[in-house]
Formats: sequence, structure tokens, C-alpha cells
Amino acid sequence: MPAVVSPPSAALDVLGVPGEINLDYAATAPCARAAADAVTELLPWYASVHRGAGALSRRCTLAYERARQTIGDFFGARADDHVIFTRNTTDALNLLARSLPAGTTVVTFAGEHHANLLPWPRGSVRLPVPSDPAGAVRDLAAALTELRRDSNPALPVLVAVTGASNVTGELWPVAELARVAHRHGARIVLDAAQLAPHAPVDVRTLGVDYLAVSGHKLYAPFGAGVLVGRADWLDAAPPYLAGGGATSHVGPATHDVTWATGPARHEGGTPNLLGAVALAAVCAALTDADRVALAAQEQALLARLRAGLAALPHVVELRTFGPDAPRVGIVSFVVAGRDSTAVAAQLAADHRIGVRDGLFCAHPLARRLLGEAATRTGRRDLPPTALRASIGLGSTAAQVDRLLAALAELA
Ligand SMILES: Cc1ncc(COP(=O)(O)O)c(C=O)c1O
Repeated sequence: MPAVVSPPSAALDVLGVPGEINLDYAATAPCARAAADAVTELLPWYASVHRGAGALSRRCTLAYERARQTIGDFFGARADDHVIFTRNTTDALNLLARSLPAGTTVVTFAGEHHANLLPWPRGSVRLPVPSDPAGAVRDLAAALTELRRDSNPALPVLVAVTGASNVTGELWPVAELARVAHRHGARIVLDAAQLAPHAPVDVRTLGVDYLAVSGHKLYAPFGAGVLVGRADWLDAAPPYLAGGGATSHVGPATHDVTWATGPARHEGGTPNLLGAVALAAVCAALTDADRVALAAQEQALLARLRAGLAALPHVVELRTFGPDAPRVGIVSFVVAGRDSTAVAAQLAADHRIGVRDGLFCAHPLARRLLGEAATRTGRRDLPPTALRASIGLGSTAAQVDRLLAALAELA
């Protein structure tokens, strides 16, 4: 039986394995009790969605659509927004990329995860990584001014930004970037993959047009993500997956098809009911939770972790915005003179601690920060890849201390 790790509240207990220290939440968070319970409860009823008249099928259809509503409410979706189920954030951003009106220019920063760099069309603008959040706002304003001056002002522009960096945990000034985008007649999509697990995210409060998120990083495994946002581009776009469920009429001729509007247009095929229900259950549990208290607990652990790392002379933290920039529970670092993959393997083998190593699917940013770390410290023995520790619900001071002690032994 899976064990429960340090419960903040019953529904937000996370499952785990006794003795295994999971400090890799940013890759995939453990399963919340709420998600596991919701799936277990539904499983006896498991049947088709939108495809059957039987009692089981009707219950599943209801559960799926209720999940959509709960998730939309959780993220502050406007009445006319679509909430479209996807596999994950990558899938959600690719869906949006395929839905862009012709001639759209996408503007993003080089600090993004590959999921928010690679789907965008040729001709997209990639701004350099700024040295502080105010610089991001200034750089975006300058880039949009230039873009509007040099290109047809009627053509759409989409700004694509992360809420929290998956490399450093640092927060990006999303609301300010949204204001700048809108001032220039652009739309903005928020990659909330790393922000949503740590802080409330509301599209209306932040003023973003679209939001992409992954269930598996939000304590809800089973493979669902969502794209939330403005209906018009999505309803005008070709269906993301052509097939059953995405149509309202199919005639005898090959191309005699009327595609559905609404989320169904992009949810062709039998949907991932359990993923949707799991994600909705976590959203509901987080809505009921004291998020301020949860954030305070996380910040205390993060401070302990960062202070402990700073006290180790052979460990160097990676950062974009400076040591005091607000951030969520994610820290990347290197052990001077040690290969990061070997360190991660040693932490796993000798201490049963799971961390991530590599360039974290954010190669341009990670390489830049590794270079910056070498310059800042004057060290020539930093490895070419990094380590990342990340925490969240159920993480404990004892786990953080075990990591710090293990790293101290590497000296
Ligand atoms: C900031 C950010 N965006 C997008 C993604 C992609 O998420 P997924 O792999 O769930 O599609 C990740 C995953 O690590 C991420 O950290």
C-alpha cells in the first residue's frame, strides 16, 4: 500500500513510498489523495463519455463535464472561454499554436521551457532572457512597439510567457506583461505548468487570454492537461484531432464535414475521463485549502533548502533574477567539480533521494545560467549540466536536511 507523506489536509495528502525522498515535484508531482479517491470512486462506473445512453455512460459524461466546469472555475475562466482537455501543457500549447490565425507573430523569451519555445511558428520573436522582472516588462514593451511599427498592425500577436521558471522557480511578472501585451493589441498565453502547483492562478486576475497547465504537475496523474482561453481563435481553427466527437455533421462526400465548435472541436476521439476527474478533484481540494498557509510552509522549506545550499562551498545555485527574487519551491544548482548526472545517481543509490539532472528541457536558459554561475563565482570547475530539487505538498524539513547532508558529504 502506498504511504501518506506529511499531510497538510486529508484531500491534499500525497501518496509516496516510505523511505523514498522525492524532491522532483517540478518534473511530476506525487498523486494527491483527492485525485486517487476521485478516480477510485468513479472506476466502477467507468464507461464511455458523450457516447452512450446507459446509466454508466451518462454518469461518466456528467463527471467529465463537471470536471471541465470545476477546472474552469479554479482558473477563473470567463463565461465565454473554452476549457479544452489536452494531455499536458505541451499539448495545450501545441493546440494553441495550431489555432493561431494566419499571420500571427508569437513573442516569447529565451528563458522558456521547450514546450513554450518549440511549438510556435517560424518568424516568432524570441527575446533575450532579461536580468530582472522589470527588464522583462521593458523588453516586451519595446519589442511590441517595434513589431507594431514594422508590421501590419491588423495582424495578430501572441505573447507566450511562463508563470514560474522550471529551472529557477523564479516568478515572472505575468500581470504586468499581460497589461503591456494588451496595450499593444496583443494577446497573451500563460504557461502555468510550474506556477499553478504553488500559487492560485486566475486568468481574469492576471489578465491573460490563455492558460496551459499539466495535471501531473498539479498532483493529478492520469494524463490530463488543459488549455483555457478565448473561444474565437479556437472555434475558427481546424480541429486539433480530426475524428469522432469533433464533428457536428459528416455527409457522404469526403470533405463534407461540419466541425463542432466549443471544446469538442479539439477533443476528437474518446476523452481521458479519469485524467479530467483527477485534475478536477485536486482543483476542488485546493479551492478548499488555505493556500496562504500552504505557500508559507513551502517558502519556509525553500528558504531552508536555499540557505543550506548557500552554506555548502562546493555548491552553486543557478538564478536569473538575483538571490532575493520571489520564487516557488524549485532550485537548480551544480556541485563544483562533479558531473551532475553522477551526483543525481549517487543521491538516488546512496540516499534514496530523487532529484532531476540535465538542462531541464530549457536548454537556452540552463546553458546561459550555467555560464552566468561560472562568471559570478569565478569557478572553472562547474559541470555543463545541473541538478534540480523541487518541493511541494508533503515535502518536509527532514527531507530537505537529508539532501543537504548528502550534498555536504560530496565535498
Ligand atoms: C514551465 C514548463 N512548461 C511546460 C512544461 C511541459 O509540461 P508537460 O511535460 O507536462 O507537457 C514543463 C514541464 O516540465 C514546464 O516546466
